[in-house]
Amino acid sequence: MKLLFIGDVVGKPGMRLLSLLIPQFKKNNKYDLVCINGENSAGGFGITKNGVLKLKKYGCDVITTGNHIIDRKEELPEVFKLPDVIRPLNYESSFPGRGWTLVEKNSARCVIVNLQGTVFMPEEPKTNSPFIVIKENIKIIRKMAPIIILDFHAEATAEKIAMRYFLDGKISALIGTHTHVQTKDETITAKGTAYITDVGMTGSFDSVIGMQKGPIIERFLGNNDERFKLAKKDVRMDAVEIEIDNKNGKAYSIRSIQIAENT
Ligand SMILES: [Fe+2]
Ligand SMILES: [Fe+2]
Repeated sequence: MKLLFIGDVVGKPGMRLLSLLIPQFKKNNKYDLVCINGENSAGGFGITKNGVLKLKKYGCDVITTGNHIIDRKEELPEVFKLPDVIRPLNYESSFPGRGWTLVEKNSARCVIVNLQGTVFMPEEPKTNSPFIVIKENIKIIRKMAPIIILDFHAEATAEKIAMRYFLDGKISALIGTHTHVQTKDETITAKGTAYITDVGMTGSFDSVIGMQKGPIIERFLGNNDERFKLAKKDVRMDAVEIEIDNKNGKAYSIRSIQIAENT
C-alpha cells in the first residue's frame, strides 16, 4: 500500500493548494490512501463539516485531528457523523467522535488511529495518557487489520520518540503532527515501523506556524490585545509518502516531501 500523509492544513491558503494539487498528485503517484490532519482547516482554528466535505472532494480519504477541534466545538457532532474523520482516542470518553477508523483500499486493509500527547499540550480537551490508552487497545486494533497507521498529535519530541519505541514493530507507521514543522528524521525501524517526529504543515510558510508574524511577535512582547491572523504567502504542502506490505503490515519506505504552490 502506498500512503500519502499530509501535515496539518492551515486555513484557506492550505485548502486552496490541496484543491489544486491533490487530485492530479494522487493519480500520478498512485497513492492507495491519502490521510491528512485537519485540526486547523477552518481558518486555522478547528474543523467544520463543510471543510471535511471539501477535503474529501479533493481526494483525502481519512482526516485525523487534534487539540484545535475545540475551537469550533459546536461543529463536532456533525463533523464526527461523517465517515473516516477521527479524533484522539485518548480524549475523555464523553468527547464526541472516535479514535480510529478501518478502511479498505485496493485490497489493503488498514486501521488509522489518532492519539494526542500530554506534554506541553493544552488542558482541554481532557486527555488521558496516550501510552496507557494505546496499551489497552493495541491488541484489539491489531486484530482488525495488518496495516496500522498512527497520527500522534504531540508537542514534545521526546514523547513522540518514546511512543516510537513503545510501539516499534506493532504498527506500520507513526506520524507525528501538531508542531507544523517538518523534522528531518524519517526512518524505517528494524522492526518495520515507518516513523517521523513531525510531518509538518500545509499552509503559509511566510508565517509563524501558519499565522502572520507581526501579531505573534507582538504577543511575545506582551501585547495581549493582538489577535492571530492567518498568513497567506508562500504556501506549501508538507507530507510523507510511505510504502507498506499489504500482508504483514511492515513499512519498507518513507520519504518526506514539501511542495510549493507555484511548482
Ligand atoms: Fe495543527
Ligand atoms: Fe494541534
